[in-house]
Amino acid sequence: MTNEKIKISILGSTGSIGRQALEVIEKLNDKFEIIALAAGSNVELLQQQTQKFKPRYSLLGQEGLERICSDKENDIILVAVSGKVGLRPTLTAIENGINIALANKETLVMAGDIVMQKAKETGVKIIPVDSEHCAIHQCIKDISQVERLIITASGGPFLHKSVEEMKQSTVEQALAHPRWNMGKKITIDSATLMNKGLEVIEAHHLFGMDYDNIEVVIHPQSIVHSAIEYKDGSVVAQLGLPSMHIPIQYAITYPERFEGIKSKSFSFADIARLDFEKPDFDKFPSVKLAYDCGRLGGSATVCMNAANEESVFAFLHGKINLYDIYRITSKITENHRVIKSPSIDEIFAIDEEIRIKTRELIG
Ligand SMILES: NC(=O)c1ccc[n+]([C@@H]2O[C@H](COP(=O)([O-])OP(=O)(O)OC[C@H]3O[C@@H](n4cnc5c(N)ncnc54)[C@H](OP(=O)(O)O)[C@@H]3O)[C@@H](O)[C@H]2O)c1
Repeated sequence: MTNEKIKISILGSTGSIGRQALEVIEKLNDKFEIIALAAGSNVELLQQQTQKFKPRYSLLGQEGLERICSDKENDIILVAVSGKVGLRPTLTAIENGINIALANKETLVMAGDIVMQKAKETGVKIIPVDSEHCAIHQCIKDISQVERLIITASGGPFLHKSVEEMKQSTVEQALAHPRWNMGKKITIDSATLMNKGLEVIEAHHLFGMDYDNIEVVIHPQSIVHSAIEYKDGSVVAQLGLPSMHIPIQYAITYPERFEGIKSKSFSFADIARLDFEKPDFDKFPSVKLAYDCGRLGGSATVCMNAANEESVFAFLHGKINLYDIYRITSKITENHRVIKSPSIDEIFAIDEEIRIKTRELIG
């Protein structure tokens, strides 16, 4: 690495990932220059961040995201907005040859084929921030030698609770994730395990792996962040304390590594035990739904993502119960006529149409 600072922008600086990214940057102050910060509605926090981190500019709202992604001054852009708003700016950044640290998994779930193809054509690196994909990224030396990806899941707050308890869960209970402190949308997806389904689709696109060769395993301690199995049966895993600081730092400093945010050394003795179990797809049917939609490909994952996101919002607003999220998402998905290779405009049109249908079904 040269002594030049890494010029970075953060889309979603006021969110869970965005705030932690700024903590990483604060520790590695001499390594970064912040070009821009962007947020949705939290004006106060964006102003505080602007005063403290002195980006060249900061912007509020969706148009700001596009503008930042057109600014070729950026070496890398951290896409840490939640939901579908991440897709267009990510494509704009790729078109402008800017590397991406990608937290926003919805981008790949909605348009993985297009995004990965464009990145290949432009030579843009897409470095995953999601801890599981970051782990796999760290394990892989040569993808052609890899047989299988093994994605770990903590299991969320309802791992050992009954379906009945899940149905009766309050919003607060569903938001009380035992391991990770994240934004509301991803926390609810973690409670239904849809988050794992989205991650399977994300892994399929990032690493070009067939769905038959991506396995999910429950690992409640969240120490093994994911693993790969090579063709010869050798398994390589990445371990670490459950903290998003590490994958964020990895993604924005890649391929370099720094002490940065590290607070203490890893100790196997302190951890003492690591448990693994098969996921219960009957209790958490969203994972199977995601595999099914992933295998169908095309607009099936666009539909699933939109119906799920709208249902999560409805749950957060007390309109439906936690289990209804799956019930509604699968019903909408069943009735969707899949378009094999939708264009970006078609993807956004389908996304909009599905959201309207989902809201109508919810009532
Ligand atoms: N949190 C985690 O630990 C984690 C781990 C792995 C992957 N991810 C992924 O990372 C992404 C972000 O997650 P998060 O937990 O950080 O979400 P979050 O806490 O809800 O933050 C979302 C961020 O996006 C901004 N935003 C939302 N809509 C916007 C819009 N229309 N225009 C501009 N900015 C907008 C928000 O701004 P305001 O708050 O100002 O409205 C906020 O800064 C998600 O795709 C998630 O799946 C998160």
